[in-house]
Amino acid sequence: MSDQNPLAGSIFPPSPEFVAQANVSGMAAYQALYDEAAARPEQFWGHLAETELAWQQKFDHVFEWAPPFSKWFVGGQLNASYNCLDRHLDGPRAHKAAIIWEGEPGDTRTITYTELHRLVCRFANSIKSLGYQTGDRAIIYMPMVPEAVVAMLACARLGIIHSVVFGGFSAEALKARIQDLGATLVITADGGWRRAKEVKLKPAVDEALLECPEVKHTIVLRRTGSEPEMMEGRDLWWHTLDETSHDDCPAVPVDSEHPLFVLYTSGTTGKPKGILHTTAGYLLQTTMSMKWVFDLKENDVYWCSADIGWVTGHSYITYGPLSAGATNVMYEGTPDTPAFDRWWQLIAKYKVTLFYTSPTAIRALIRQGDQWPDAHDLSSLRLLGSVGEPINPAAWEWYHRVIGKGRCPIVDTWWQTETGAILIAPMPGAVPLKPGSGTLPMPGILAEVVDLDGKPVPPDAEGYLIIRRPWPSMIRNIWGDPDRYAQTYWGRMEGVYFTGDAARRDADGYFWVLGRVDDVMNVSGHRLSTMEVESALVRHPAVAEAAVVAKPHEITGQAVCCFVTLKKGDYNHDVLGKELRQWVAHEIGAFARPEEIRFSEALPKTRSGKIMRRLLREIVTSNTVAGDVTTLEDMGVLTRLAAQQDEP
Ligand code: PRX
Repeated sequence: MSDQNPLAGSIFPPSPEFVAQANVSGMAAYQALYDEAAARPEQFWGHLAETELAWQQKFDHVFEWAPPFSKWFVGGQLNASYNCLDRHLDGPRAHKAAIIWEGEPGDTRTITYTELHRLVCRFANSIKSLGYQTGDRAIIYMPMVPEAVVAMLACARLGIIHSVVFGGFSAEALKARIQDLGATLVITADGGWRRAKEVKLKPAVDEALLECPEVKHTIVLRRTGSEPEMMEGRDLWWHTLDETSHDDCPAVPVDSEHPLFVLYTSGTTGKPKGILHTTAGYLLQTTMSMKWVFDLKENDVYWCSADIGWVTGHSYITYGPLSAGATNVMYEGTPDTPAFDRWWQLIAKYKVTLFYTSPTAIRALIRQGDQWPDAHDLSSLRLLGSVGEPINPAAWEWYHRVIGKGRCPIVDTWWQTETGAILIAPMPGAVPLKPGSGTLPMPGILAEVVDLDGKPVPPDAEGYLIIRRPWPSMIRNIWGDPDRYAQTYWGRMEGVYFTGDAARRDADGYFWVLGRVDDVMNVSGHRLSTMEVESALVRHPAVAEAAVVAKPHEITGQAVCCFVTLKKGDYNHDVLGKELRQWVAHEIGAFARPEEIRFSEALPKTRSGKIMRRLLREIVTSNTVAGDVTTLEDMGVLTRLAAQQDEP
């Protein structure tokens, strides 16, 4: 796919029709919100918290900041599940569809807010009957079924801290997360459907639990009907528990700063970090972005194609949309099953109005040709969203023209697991779009592009993207590791949140995020650390040393490329290469499977022994090395690594 920029310099102002109906209508309205939040942040957020959330007890004050720790809406009490469910039951939303779900085999369910409330209460009662309570930790390892949302909201209802582990993670990765979190409950399923095959989940739980003695129970949803092994006393069927549960389960009021969930993501070391989000601030900002960024209206049908296991699924399938009272489409499978028009068919079938997906998915679908979307009526769409990585101009142009028929604004949303909610994105009825730019920050977000000393760089110059002031949905801590939290995010520049992204800001103040500046890769919009893959590789008995870099990839944005040196022995490189790719999939998950393994006698290192990843990146990107190699210990290694590319 050509990445020549067909849209260089193009600006797409919102159409008058869109402006006329928008929640934030016109640039002056955006500017007024932004200025108000910048000038009087406490009043701004305090007022929104009071009017947009339901409280069991009102907060005393808005904000406390003892760098790097912040507290929002201090002294208040509320419940996230109550905000996503109960408060909608008094009026016309009671019988509105909360979730319209479709399984990959074609089975469907429509669940109203009343029904979802009932399911959540019943499941919360099931958990309660087993003795779990506020402050306990539960792992959710499930396919994309409504019960995944039910499980999250049931935990939230009781003040139980949940951690959803993406179903694509392996038993090893699951085990590490259970242990780090000290979870005592695992909620899972027999499996789910993906590309017409069952992806089993329960066997991975069984394997993980061999080394997690603290887990007292697993609750297993029957989804596929395969008969997993059930360990007497530990493993319980969801439906069996449900038989004796009742419909009434009052939501437990928790403190504004009560942990809502921990979500593990990759950092720059081999150990994933548990990003901690708390209740009120997170809920407020995810709710507001539904209105500000997605321009949500009462009759919209909203669909976010992310998996519940990533932060996008948390903020923009569960908490944001349900707190805002949206109708949420949820789909279990992949876009190519049974054919490449599955998504377009779903949009037509459910008359989706707001569609949110990733550039990787868009690129994969472009490749299949326009005949797939063209065969369906996509005229219900009124807004498109993008998340996870910079969207390249060719993908933007296609998304806009072929899916949006030139009518739909594209909201390119920049944010992170740590930010909790969207921080940089256009308000679609106000901000003119520039393809490839997340445009302007949300109200209350003081984003800047700076140099290493924290000084703003001139327009169009590259620098580090930072946020100057805390915001309500911000990460509160890394689970069990406050030092790492302080260092990673607040230790680079005094009192400033360091995003880890490079960016530039143009003369109009628009942000252009360029990618990570650390050793974090972005594969299909999924975050993966080079160190995590390296640690997995060196656990293999044949591997002496490994260096992992990202290489550009046409569809997935980046792909994992590994340089490996072996211990003494006689190896068949073809066989071992396959084995190592499988090994990484086993250690982390199938989505982390390396694209390429290159074997080498040694790795390029500085005299102090540091692997020169920069040179390896150059090799995989351009196959030549242009950078400074004066500190390189063994030039011959480099030449041989580069030459491997040409071998048959
Ligand atoms: O590099 C940025 C990229 O994804 C990183 C965050 O990854 P994660 O925590 O997994 O969250 C993904 C979903 C929010 C960021 O540091 N990123 C995310 N969205 C964009 C983006 N890069 C450019 N443009 C975006 N819209």
